[in-house]
Amino acid sequence: MRSVAIANIGSLITNDETLGDGFLGQRTHAGLVIENGKIAWIGDSGDLPDADSRVDLEGRALIPGFVDSHAHLMFAGDRSAEFSARMQGQSYSAGGIKTTVAATRSASDEQLEANLTRLIAEMHSSGITTFETKSGYGLNVADEARSLAIAAKHTGETTFLGAHVVPAEFAADDYVALVTGEMLERAAAHAKWIDVFCDRGAFSVDQARDILQAGIAKGLKPRLHANQLENIGAIALAVELDCASADHCTHLSHEDIELLAGSNTVATLLPGAEFSTRSPYPDARRLIAAGATVALATDCNPGSSFTTSMPFCMAIAVREMRMSPDEALWAATAGGAKALRRTNVGHLGLGANADFVVLNAPSHLHLSYRPGVDLIGQTWLAGKPLTSNAAFTTTI
Ligand code: NIG
Ligand code: FE
Repeated sequence: MRSVAIANIGSLITNDETLGDGFLGQRTHAGLVIENGKIAWIGDSGDLPDADSRVDLEGRALIPGFVDSHAHLMFAGDRSAEFSARMQGQSYSAGGIKTTVAATRSASDEQLEANLTRLIAEMHSSGITTFETKSGYGLNVADEARSLAIAAKHTGETTFLGAHVVPAEFAADDYVALVTGEMLERAAAHAKWIDVFCDRGAFSVDQARDILQAGIAKGLKPRLHANQLENIGAIALAVELDCASADHCTHLSHEDIELLAGSNTVATLLPGAEFSTRSPYPDARRLIAAGATVALATDCNPGSSFTTSMPFCMAIAVREMRMSPDEALWAATAGGAKALRRTNVGHLGLGANADFVVLNAPSHLHLSYRPGVDLIGQTWLAGKPLTSNAAFTTTI
């Protein structure tokens, strides 16, 4: 395969401390070479080796592609009226999920896939190069299985979330039996992960333990929606089962933070959900100070966080959760990769996938310094440009 040299990178973030300064592994006046879709060389732009083709970034910044480790993209329908009511004082509850379940069940496979591909295109143009998606709006055997089968055509990071809420037609115990029985049997062929919404109005810690253990026995890896609405003890369960990630973490006790800090479970924060449900933000500073690994993800879903914009989530994390812009960038790239237990994405070390974003800006700081402005110039996946912003050709 042809090699590509990228010259005149004003600020390069590698997330590899051996390749640059600080935990972001930052270099200025940098160059890189791609071979076979992987990073083959990193150094000073002036020392760039010859390659089959050369791209000059004229001082723009280049960062690893965002790794969105938490999204719910398998759905149909619209809940903008629910959002509007919330912004006028109504509170968010897990029950809203049922509206989307009805719309998802009545959508055709083609409609579900068209909705998914539209959202993937949005993600690419917001700089996301790896994404996870959950099922969870089918809530019967056929609709959960087809949601995952369609998702698996587009990403390797598929998550079975049959345990999103108990659908209206079931008693809780009967539904848990279905999720851990026939539904899991059909879903497991298309899923890598298993997840449970462990919270008030959804599933208890004991139910979540049974469901996750059933998934683990079928070869799925666990992750958990934990303590979004209330602290019902979900963090301890996530750590007990070595979940790759405990997601939301909106309500955390001191003990929860210590447990996360002493574990391999990433705390995945989803500030789009707090923004869109007008809820208090999780305490990112206490998590970071304790030594927990923090990821940022979009939580893209039609109810609590209908955004595919990682830069938007980063800007809120910086402004409202007091993460530094450097921490937010790391959490949205390397942190997301850790939440998916992936080593070949989320950084630009030698041998990593050449998945990256060229910014229409001189540094990544602009992502939160210029909120709401589209600074994603070009998104590259496996060494090839996917999307270009109309503004990309202008000089910064
Ligand atoms: O992550 N918390 C559970 N699931 C989604 C919301 C789903 C919905 O409201 O449709 C979330 O926020
Ligand atoms: Fe979620």
